[in-house]
Amino acid sequence: MKDIHALYNEKLTSAAELASRVESGWLIGMDNAISQPKDFINAVSDRAKKGELSGVWVQTMLDSYPYAFYEDDSLNGKINGISWFSSAGSRKAVNGGYADVVPGYYRDMPSHIRSSWDYDTVAISVSPMDSHGYFSLSCTNSYAEALLDKTKRVYLEINRQLPRAVRGSQIHISRVDALYETDYALPVLPPAKLDETSTIIGGYIAEMIPDGACIQLGIGAIPDAVGAALKSKHDLGIHTEMFTDSMVELINCGAVNNSKKQTHRYRSVTTFAFGSQRIYDYVDDNPAIEILPVDYVNDPAVICLNDNMISINAALEVDFWGQVCAESIGTKHVSGSGGQVDYVRGACQSKGGKSFIAFPSTAKGGTISKIKPILTPGAIVTTSKNDVDYVVTEFGVAHLRGQSLASRTKQLIAIAHPDFRDELTFEARKRGIMI
Ligand code: COA
Repeated sequence: MKDIHALYNEKLTSAAELASRVESGWLIGMDNAISQPKDFINAVSDRAKKGELSGVWVQTMLDSYPYAFYEDDSLNGKINGISWFSSAGSRKAVNGGYADVVPGYYRDMPSHIRSSWDYDTVAISVSPMDSHGYFSLSCTNSYAEALLDKTKRVYLEINRQLPRAVRGSQIHISRVDALYETDYALPVLPPAKLDETSTIIGGYIAEMIPDGACIQLGIGAIPDAVGAALKSKHDLGIHTEMFTDSMVELINCGAVNNSKKQTHRYRSVTTFAFGSQRIYDYVDDNPAIEILPVDYVNDPAVICLNDNMISINAALEVDFWGQVCAESIGTKHVSGSGGQVDYVRGACQSKGGKSFIAFPSTAKGGTISKIKPILTPGAIVTTSKNDVDYVVTEFGVAHLRGQSLASRTKQLIAIAHPDFRDELTFEARKRGIMI
């Protein structure tokens, strides 16, 4: 094989030149969060804006940058996005009819990619090459390996500011078609607002988490509040989909040491890390965190190997059956399934495990109850009635798993906001389920 530095120089180009290689009709794949090659995608979008391209599709997930094809509907037909998880960045386009979505459990995305998708190019932002010719996939390793298996070309963005994950996937220079160098600051998420409601909810859940438990925290203010409430615990472990800022805090304060895990002892396991410079600094060259493919990390059969596995996720609304909607308000898309079900199932199968779906009892300034007799028509069921375990609001904890419809309904009404309890009881009686 040629000298790695000679190979590197042969393949080195610019984002604009790489974008000029893209042809109409191409499908471009990328993984999530900070692995997205912003400069290349923006350069391709600029070409589409100039009318040089049509029919280009870019597949995305949990986008960390604003993309023109999600913001500007005049690009429809020139360049469009398809999202595996329609979070804030893609929501407007999905609801506006100029972006598509792929439903699925996060753990299954690598197998969906391997069975159903073929990419003209896959583009990934990685950290600089090491002395053996390898680039670390850095903070995201969710389905990148599957993308690399199903693409005609591999383009890399080398961002000097990306941390190097020593226990994660690597790609060798020999597998790369072209690359360019860049140097921009990584995106950070605004810190969660810990208001009184989320702090109360965090406190209820923290009381039910024993020392030595293994935790997963999902996306949103409530999981962050639980993180904040766990600082006085001991010997916690982390096996999670998203490695968050509150987890770094738990490691720094000594609450997490991963010593009681049954798998990956003394190491945190995740499939991506995203949110703050503190996270990126923690990941850099740190063997204490493993960033592994999502078909392994989110497999309930792997998750449940750790005893006392605790999963904490949020919801938009829950009905009397305990059906959890975390993705839409009626037919309006808000989010994706992500790994919620993966962790609900993994936690419930773990010895001593518990899964919590937690949310404030009301939305929109107290005008809407998030506990409802039936879900808003068109709502997407994320976690089914058969999988749900604990549901928590600022008014308490309902344990639904294994319980009858009547018991679920009574427990849920008891943790609904007092302003809505009479109305909910009336609806339950009307349907004959307050037995
Ligand atoms: N009716 C109407 N509007 C509602 C509502 C309801 N029942 N519930 C929430 N909303 C509104 C909120 O007011 C807010 O509106 P705004 O953006 O105008 O302020 C918006 O919907 C988002 O709600 P919020 O509760 O603030 O969301 P969050 O940031 O706490 O995230 C989820 C909650 C459910 C969207 C998020 O956890 C998610 O994406 N989950 C799915 C995937 C998942 O759980 N993955 C887990 C592994 S990481």
